[in-house]
Amino acid sequence: METKINIVALSGSSRKKSSTQKALNSLKKFMPNGVEYEIYNGIEKLPHFNRDLDSDKPPVEVQVYRESLSRADGVIICTPEYIKGVPGVLKNALEWLVSSAELYSKPVAVITASCDGKNAHQALQLNLSMLNANVFDGGVINFRSKQ
Ligand SMILES: Cc1cc2nc3c(=O)[nH]c(=O)nc-3n(C[C@H](O)[C@H](O)[C@H](O)COP(=O)(O)O)c2cc1C
Repeated sequence: METKINIVALSGSSRKKSSTQKALNSLKKFMPNGVEYEIYNGIEKLPHFNRDLDSDKPPVEVQVYRESLSRADGVIICTPEYIKGVPGVLKNALEWLVSSAELYSKPVAVITASCDGKNAHQALQLNLSMLNANVFDGGVINFRSKQ
């Protein structure tokens, strides 16, 4: 029986015509056979992280998000830079993973796509190191629209 590899992608922009979303959509056609590729579109619905809510029964949106990531064999994060850092919506989504550790040792690829983006690129890798994600060599791209 064929083993499916499950990749989940997160976008740092929830804008309808977002270039980040387009980049993630376009990755779909590069996925080899046997790879299940899902773009998780619920991060803007996550409540603001609050340790009081991070209980045995967290909000349902958080449960769905964590379950999706725990099923993933690998994760791709693509994000723009906002005010020299990681957009709040994505930072918030990562904060929800501190106690539940879905990214622990998990391969994570990082793509920043912005006018510049180097600050978000560095900050995101620092955030992911705190979550003990396995951000592997070759899985890190800062795609700049002005060069
Ligand atoms: C609120 C805001 C802040 C931004 N701050 C930065 C920034 O600090 N550095 C940068 O390179 N681009 C910055 N940009 C430009 C965006 O990163 C760029 O437009 C990006 O392509 C937006 O991604 P999206 O199309 O997926 O929404 C900012 C854009 C917005 C709306």
